[in-house]
Amino acid sequence: MNRSVPRPMDAEAARGIARAFLPERPLGNRYHYYYALSKLRTDPLYPGVLDLLRGHAAPLIDLGCGLGLLAHALRRDGQAMPYLGVDIDAPKIERARRIAGRAGLEGVRFEVMDLGAGWPAHHGSVAILDVLQFLTRDQQAALLDAAIAMLAPGGLLVMRAALDDGGARIRRTRAGDRFAALTGWMPDRPRHYPTGDELRARFDAAGLDVDIAPWFGNTPFNNWMVVARRPG
Ligand SMILES: C[S@@+](CC[C@H](N)C(=O)[O-])C[C@H]1O[C@@H](n2cnc3c(N)ncnc32)[C@H](O)[C@@H]1O
Repeated sequence: MNRSVPRPMDAEAARGIARAFLPERPLGNRYHYYYALSKLRTDPLYPGVLDLLRGHAAPLIDLGCGLGLLAHALRRDGQAMPYLGVDIDAPKIERARRIAGRAGLEGVRFEVMDLGAGWPAHHGSVAILDVLQFLTRDQQAALLDAAIAMLAPGGLLVMRAALDDGGARIRRTRAGDRFAALTGWMPDRPRHYPTGDELRARFDAAGLDVDIAPWFGNTPFNNWMVVARRPG
């Protein structure tokens, strides 16, 4: 089943968010503006995550946040929970800080951090969006255990990840991720794709309610949405 994937953001909302990514100078490079606009207009990720997090006021940590698009989408959606975004890419984090500051986002912070080596203290909800594949199997296990420990009662872990089910979709995903790394589109090559059973076992063992659903949308890739909730 692939029924619950929402539509990407509408043009007005996407343009409203992407405007913050325009260059500071009139003739500056518009790469990040067009990247944000096309991501928001084509990827159902953010509407889906906004739907899941609506009503959850607990602080959110966005692990592997990139330019912090999620923070902009949350604030535009009227979701005001404290937000901390962390990413290994220092120039990206510096840019994310500048853009969020210019856009006047409140309660938003960004920090540089290698999630293969550590993570900040946090208590609330957690987002891990299209990041897991950059970590080794052991690093993923450690990060997921840390993310589970961060969950407050009622807190949500929202994760989009490509899962290894041995099918044609994951083979296309692996090839696409390798190509993205070769061209420099992504900072690193993929290291490991977990199986759904592997993830479910970890969340079950921690006593979380977990839902793992396909999130293919119109893409050829093997994206799944994993939502784990600590009862309470
Ligand atoms: C595909 S992007 C996803 C960005 C964001 N989560 C989103 O959905 O728009 C993957 C991000 O993971 C970050 N990343 C990769 N390896 C990482 C690591 N070891 N620690 C922290 N961030 C990492 C990259 O720098 C990149 O910004």
